[in-house]
Amino acid sequence: MKIRRIVLFASMVALVALGVAVTVASAAPAAPPTPGDPVKGKYIFSAAGGCGCHGVNLAGYNPAGAPFGEQFAGPFGTVYARNITSDKNTGVGNWTDAQLINAIHNGIDDKGEHLFPIMPYNTFHFMSDADVADLVAFLRTVPAVSNEVPVNKLNGPVPPAPPLPPSPATSPVSGVERGKYLVTAVSDCGACHTPTNAQGGPDMTKMLAGGLVPREGGTFQVAPNITPANATGIGYWTPQNIVTYLKEGSGPNGRVPDGLMAEVVAGGFGGLGFNKLTDADALAIASFLKSIPPVNSVPKLPRMAAAAPSTWEAQFQAAHGRAPTAQDIADRDWSLEFVAKNGRAPTEADWVARWKQSAQ
Ligand code: HEC
Repeated sequence: MKIRRIVLFASMVALVALGVAVTVASAAPAAPPTPGDPVKGKYIFSAAGGCGCHGVNLAGYNPAGAPFGEQFAGPFGTVYARNITSDKNTGVGNWTDAQLINAIHNGIDDKGEHLFPIMPYNTFHFMSDADVADLVAFLRTVPAVSNEVPVNKLNGPVPPAPPLPPSPATSPVSGVERGKYLVTAVSDCGACHTPTNAQGGPDMTKMLAGGLVPREGGTFQVAPNITPANATGIGYWTPQNIVTYLKEGSGPNGRVPDGLMAEVVAGGFGGLGFNKLTDADALAIASFLKSIPPVNSVPKLPRMAAAAPSTWEAQFQAAHGRAPTAQDIADRDWSLEFVAKNGRAPTEADWVARWKQSAQ
């Protein structure tokens, strides 16, 4: 399944707008990290929804589409999901464990360059050192796929990371705290389910109260309100309903996950997604969701995303992926004159007649 989505690029827009000072924890750990456990790492990978942006083969963006990963286009430019397989030339096969950990925790690549924050490192920053080491050990086991991902085309500098406390060494093992950890640091439910504010950052006053996630072709998918609000959220779902939905893809009232939710439940690479959560972890997530404040709210289109290009040239560029040519402009002027004269838009036959005429 091909997905194109833009998640979380926005938190940075907000930070830039606020002029937040840059203090990035850029230094890689001095001592080489203790090697992780790939079996545990496979579980973390599943709980993270399968890192789907990187593609079913995890080899990053390729114009061929699935099983390759995604590209994200927006006002910031174009960002390509990178190859995270162990291929030595085009993937991360030559990166050290410390470099991979630094990329996941702090968004800094093997060359010391900042990754664009569509990669949710501001979320994964709160994943424990132990879990990230395990995740890295699992990534080492992913079959190498040779795929050279294009260099990002950015319209400006990579936005600075916000100042963050150090990552935790270990993660909570059970209960609501475990659920909070999974939801906010690993599974990143908020990337889709928390609405964005006018600056494009996550609106934490409405945490998990429903968002609209940009998809291909200017469309959006509703990620519903999953706070315990009764009328607009999932207050009426029992914890077991939530567990069954996450693990088996079936909810109360015949609800089945569709689109992006289906992808994080089913997983891409190896079918590793929320479906692989242990009962205890799925229940911990459900307990956390039951413990947060109910927010009575229905997802609305964020203002920034709703703003359509204002000029015809910008609309043309958005629709066709190129600037209008002189011929396009002449065609447009002709169609406007046609509407003024005839009180209706030109039909296909009218266009054909015009082209025949201008070809003479
Ligand atoms: C990649 C985006 C994304 C992520 C990450 C994500 N979701 Fe969803 N979720 C969605 C979308 C989109 C839907 C709507 C699916 C549909 O319409 O069938 C949804 C639906 C749901 C529903 C059903 C709500 C209803 O009223 O039908 C629940 C419950 C849910 N998600 C919980 C979670 C939890 C818990 C997490 C984290 C562990 C999570 N989701 C992570 C996008 C996401």
